[in-house]
Amino acid sequence: MCGIVGYVGDQQAAPVLLDGLARLEYRGYDSAGVAVFGDQGLEVAKAKGRLQVLSDLIDGGRAIHGNVGIGHTRWATHGAPSDVNSHPHMSRSGRIAVVHNGIIENYAELKAFLMGEGVEFASETDTEVVAHLIEYFYKKDNGDLLSAVNRVLHRLEGAYALGILSADDPDQLIAVRKDSPLILGVGQGENFLASDVTAILRYTREVIYLEDGEMALLTPQGVRCFDHLMRPIEKALCHVDWEIDAAEKGGYEHFMFKEIMEQPDAIRRTVSPRIKDGRVHFEDFGLSDQDIREMSRMYIVACGSSYHVGMVGKYNLERMLRRPVEVSLASEFRYMDPIVDEKTLVVVISQSGETLDTMAALREAKRLGAKVLSIVNVMGSSIARESDVVLYTWAGPEISVATTKAYSTQLAVLDLLGLYFAQRLGTLPEEEYQAILDSLLHLPEQIEQVLEQREQIQYLASQFFNHSSVFFIGRNCDYALGLEGSLKLKEISYIHSEAYASGELKHGTISLIEEGTLVIALATYAKLFDKAVSNVVEVRTRGAEVLALTTEDHRADMEGIGAAGVVTVPHSHPVVLPSLGVVPLQLFAYYVALMRGCDIDKPRNLAKSVTVE
Ligand code: M6R
Repeated sequence: MCGIVGYVGDQQAAPVLLDGLARLEYRGYDSAGVAVFGDQGLEVAKAKGRLQVLSDLIDGGRAIHGNVGIGHTRWATHGAPSDVNSHPHMSRSGRIAVVHNGIIENYAELKAFLMGEGVEFASETDTEVVAHLIEYFYKKDNGDLLSAVNRVLHRLEGAYALGILSADDPDQLIAVRKDSPLILGVGQGENFLASDVTAILRYTREVIYLEDGEMALLTPQGVRCFDHLMRPIEKALCHVDWEIDAAEKGGYEHFMFKEIMEQPDAIRRTVSPRIKDGRVHFEDFGLSDQDIREMSRMYIVACGSSYHVGMVGKYNLERMLRRPVEVSLASEFRYMDPIVDEKTLVVVISQSGETLDTMAALREAKRLGAKVLSIVNVMGSSIARESDVVLYTWAGPEISVATTKAYSTQLAVLDLLGLYFAQRLGTLPEEEYQAILDSLLHLPEQIEQVLEQREQIQYLASQFFNHSSVFFIGRNCDYALGLEGSLKLKEISYIHSEAYASGELKHGTISLIEEGTLVIALATYAKLFDKAVSNVVEVRTRGAEVLALTTEDHRADMEGIGAAGVVTVPHSHPVVLPSLGVVPLQLFAYYVALMRGCDIDKPRNLAKSVTVE
């Protein structure tokens, strides 16, 4: 979704803004712009399309001089992608510039009011009302910008992170947030604002996380924060220890491939420190053993791939805990009148920690009295900050829109959580506990083995990349895995694909199978392997071409029933097998998209972090 960067200091602002925006490109956008104040006054440059178009327009930033500025990458919501709808948006006088992430829900009402005051609008965006409204109050407040911004905030409904620059107060930036991420970067004689820490990591690792309703005033000398009533507040300075090169391609052609290859290390980082003396151990875990024993119901709530992790988690946790686990799409949770009370644990999963639907579900769960445990990758993100308990996936920054290492580490954390709870509930025999733990510890090296098969997977992709429709089938965890395999393929290759529980085929979908249809049969779960064989035979009989994913000991069986290609994963505990099985599916999607010439790291219409409903 949209990205924001702001700079005030002694460097030329425009190149810093372009650099920051380049690091936010992965979030998805369709246009970009900057506003910089310098000896020529407040200069604005905006362009539809890739950031390079904007960069060329202003000669890499050299064409605009000044030491303070704001920049934005826009992902269109109100008004089509165009130069004029791009941010920054200007007030009527051209003296106030605003960049905005989120949606102003009452913009129509505000626009009508402003038009009644004689304001003419240049764009179709909701954001433009903010620029005009700030100017309206600025005049009423006799030129007090902070107070004008504060008065505007009390009139806005919806979600927003805003960066504001005024030609009348050119040595400062104002930042505000509500339900949309915004951080402040604190440097030496320079300060930053950004929607995502990766935008400013090159310049500073000291950040302040703004809370909803808070405002900040940034000058080269410092950062001052205020609550919604404009009372000064002290904010903690947090150190970000992500490596800068973790957010660089490091010689790989695509972030997605780099992140697929990083999975063994990411899982090692996530799992190893949490195992002590043969037991799962969580530092400062906010749930007591009594809380766990009294837990009557458990929900897993998430969106997209994180939801698919929850689907695998349901099978695994119910197996380990013998307790019902419901998985809910975050976008449905708050509208479904969920049965939640203070004995309910809601596990929220989110890579970014900023997904708006997931955040809203979290708040609904808390409102209903539940305890919320979140599994999050981004430190200090909104979801992490509002949860009762946070388990971080230490995957490092994930840049590719299509998630890979975040999915794998989320799954590993859920397995650890299952073991932790099972020990307290006494629901797993010791032998089984140790077998799962052992498989988790061996997972990184087993993933390395799977990654070694990438040439074979590339070859299979070359045989099937021009299919227009693909079905993933499987049972139990293999079905849950199919959901993720299908999403990976469709989101980056634009091939229509669907995942079905194999047993459902005969209830309708099998009518779609015809000569040459590609079916990817997932059959890693040994207990149900014979059933998987029957389903493969069924679709083969109707002309489907089948690619099978199974364990090494079942390769020959799959070849024997005419699978056109068989990819295998090493033997592991069934709870851990999906963590191995997902890797060939990620690689297959990657190679198919590569052969189709798709924009792998930035698929069309998608954003890395979905911060609107
Ligand atoms: O940041 P989150 O995990 O909350 O994001 C949820 C989904 O938007 C995300 O998993 C999405 O489905 C993936 N990027 C797809 O690869």
